[in-house]
Amino acid sequence: MDLKAKNDRSYDTDGIKVPVSLGVIMDGNGRWARKRLLPRSAGHRAGAENLKELCRNCGRYGVSYLTVYAFSTENWSRPDNEVSQLMKLFVEFFEKYDPELEQEGIRVRFSGDIAGLPENIRRVCAEGEARSMNRTKMQLIVAFNYGGRREIVHSVQSIARDVKAGLLSPEDIDEKMISSHLYLPDVPDPELIIRPSGEMRMSNFLLWEGAYSEFWVSDTLWPDFGYDDLTEAFRDYAGRDRRFGGLSKKETEEGNCQ
Ligand code: IPE
Ligand code: IPE
Ligand code: MG
Repeated sequence: MDLKAKNDRSYDTDGIKVPVSLGVIMDGNGRWARKRLLPRSAGHRAGAENLKELCRNCGRYGVSYLTVYAFSTENWSRPDNEVSQLMKLFVEFFEKYDPELEQEGIRVRFSGDIAGLPENIRRVCAEGEARSMNRTKMQLIVAFNYGGRREIVHSVQSIARDVKAGLLSPEDIDEKMISSHLYLPDVPDPELIIRPSGEMRMSNFLLWEGAYSEFWVSDTLWPDFGYDDLTEAFRDYAGRDRRFGGLSKKETEEGNCQ
């Protein structure tokens, strides 16, 4: 079944739970291309096409915030030509698909060390955010030049500036304050993080925000990750017992605390 047909199914919400805030690590483009004896750039292109499908599916499922990992602070270590292809694709994506994102009511925001990106990319980010500001169905947050550790450093530095200016004392610093100085403090922590391609690691994605996220890994490579995979993730998520360090739902209901 081709990707489009796969993603055009009717939307069945029986037995699934749709998270308000979802994170997706879009991994596996290189392996997808290698399997087809294509250059890695073809995998990145197929991955970008699939992001459009994911947006559509998440929007229709009623996800409010979708955060996708598109380029990490560590991805600069790839060969120069791969990095420049990824930057080019980034620009192309928003030129090509903004009308569709608009049709779906999707607001676009960027998370990451945006100041550290080339000028043309910073412009795409600023224009994309400004253009989509009044769309209300779903927020697409593109983590680009993003690293969870760098985000925490950024938060701590801005708090330290307030301490230095005498506006705060070190004792005022708590978890809430660190959260409120992250890149997009109004975006809720993701309840669920999906990683296609089988790797069982965070790769520096949402380290602070994902402290208690449920994690779901799929062997499907990102460019092939479609409606059925998303539904399977939401079905699995429906059966999770989120304890946050406490007791299970069943134990709490039974009042069995001995
Ligand atoms: C994800 O796919 C895209 C980025 C990291 C930018 P990869 O390029 O990491 O694909 P694999 O992991 O090599 O298959
Ligand atoms: C994570 O994938 C980053 C993105 C998907 C943007 P990587 O392919 O860079 O992660 P590692 O190197 O396998 O941990
Ligand atoms: Mg990878």
